[in-house]
Amino acid sequence: MEKALEVRNLSLSLNNHKILDNLSFYLEKGSFAVLCGRNGAGKSQLLRCIKGLVNPDCGEILVDGVSLSAKARMKKIAIVFQDADMQIVSQSVEKDVAFGPENMGLDKKEIVQRVEKALSLMGLEDKVKQRPQTLSGGEKRKCAIAGILAMEPDVILLDEPFANLDYPSTLSVIRALNTLHGKGYTILVVSHEVEKFLFHADTLFILEEGRIMEEGSASEVYLKLPSYDIYLPQNVSFEDLTWLKR
Ligand SMILES: Nc1ncnc2c1ncn2[C@@H]1O[C@H](COP(=O)(O)OP(=O)(O)O)[C@@H](O)[C@H]1O
Ligand SMILES: [Mg+2]
Repeated sequence: MEKALEVRNLSLSLNNHKILDNLSFYLEKGSFAVLCGRNGAGKSQLLRCIKGLVNPDCGEILVDGVSLSAKARMKKIAIVFQDADMQIVSQSVEKDVAFGPENMGLDKKEIVQRVEKALSLMGLEDKVKQRPQTLSGGEKRKCAIAGILAMEPDVILLDEPFANLDYPSTLSVIRALNTLHGKGYTILVVSHEVEKFLFHADTLFILEEGRIMEEGSASEVYLKLPSYDIYLPQNVSFEDLTWLKR
């Protein structure tokens, strides 16, 4: 088993409040993991620490078994923020997706190839010339995901990727994440709306009081969600959560 990402003994305080408390976990290479926890549990701050946007009090973050500085992690770990609109900066979808690789200083041919590949993975081939502001909510989120894919990260973090999306958009983003999972990407989704996509995940973590309280296969850990005040639709078994599988 290879660890794509490992967090060791991570602690974070903000304004003298302990947000993350000696937290440790790892993601197996190619896994589609979900981390859930109530509002304010520290999910977004954890992702920001992993990416290298926030300095933790202490702890270590390893990518592919190597402990990396925040600066080195910026290249290896990609994040799609909750408000994907904020990540859209350009006048067309293709220009937006090219923004990251351009900043990496890649040559034109390589950029064109990467943009094409990322947009096709997200099913946005026919939107290349469209203004990102005119995309639907789900398309915007997929555009943001394409933007990070074009930078070819080792690990993809998504913060509440289904926030404010209607059913068809949610479905299209889940399909896009499934495609990435099928291609072997390592994905960590942070969300409190786990019922929407839990069935697709292989690993589930529950974050509370700044620590990972439960971890394991999604089908087992999901049974423990109610004891953390995270409710699933009533009388639904894990297998029933296929409602978005089609
Ligand atoms: N910039 C900040 N300064 C101080 N406290 C913060 C800051 N950002 C978030 N927090 C606090 O950190 C805790 C975790 O926040 P967050 O990671 O956003 O939670 P979640 O994403 O799980 O809803 C919350 O109690 C929040 O109030
Ligand atoms: Mg959050």
